[in-house]
Amino acid sequence: MENDYSNITFRQLDLSDADDFMEWYSDEKVREFCSWDTFTSKQAAMQYVADKVIPHPWHKAICLKNKPIGSISVTPFSGNEIFRAELGYVLGSNYWGKGIATTAVKMVAASVFVEWPHLERLEAVVAVENMGSQRVLEKAGFTREGVLRKYYLLKGKPKDAVIFSLFVKYERKYMWRNNSLY
Ligand SMILES: CC(C)(COP(=O)(O)OP(=O)(O)OC[C@H]1O[C@@H](n2cnc3c(N)ncnc32)[C@H](O)[C@@H]1OP(=O)(O)O)[C@@H](O)C(=O)NCCC(=O)NCCS
Repeated sequence: MENDYSNITFRQLDLSDADDFMEWYSDEKVREFCSWDTFTSKQAAMQYVADKVIPHPWHKAICLKNKPIGSISVTPFSGNEIFRAELGYVLGSNYWGKGIATTAVKMVAASVFVEWPHLERLEAVVAVENMGSQRVLEKAGFTREGVLRKYYLLKGKPKDAVIFSLFVKYERKYMWRNNSLY
């Protein structure tokens, strides 16, 4: 069914997912606004999964019918800034335009504030030209805060980005503090 998202799930990526992982990390369309280097071998993809993905505090595969088709991460800031975290997501281009990223972002936004009771603010930084990603965040309820000028490096050049945020709902945090989720 076109709009049935009950088949979207998240799970930890592991080394056996390297072929799927390569599908989106070596996809030229995916790389247009992303600063990472393409993986040229499965070995390099496995190394990245081992070094960066598995140890990450919240980096999961977005699965459709159990097949990894992309990934989504929530990276906490450190020290006395652990009340905020940065959201990132990517999907293989074969799966674009079906509402999958919006659904995944909504699902993560609904659960991460519960999983991490200290979290107050989830933010996302998007290239100004990346209209698809900005639309995803708007549809998921994020607020556009403004433009960060010359904020990230793309192909060696500093580029402007838009920053979005979503705050914890006070009621949920209050109820969590009283040892109950809802
Ligand atoms: C950004 C990305 C995750 C979107 O995934 P997706 O599953 O196609 O997103 P959705 O289908 O949920 O929503 C996309 C929305 O953007 C819109 N859109 C896509 N391209 C657009 C463009 N060039 N201009 C304006 N709107 C655009 C779509 O029409 C849709 O909005 P609608 O539902 O109102 O019609 C995917 O394109 C991707 O992985 N891109 C490469 C990596 C990336 O940019 N990650 C984000 C880094 S911040």
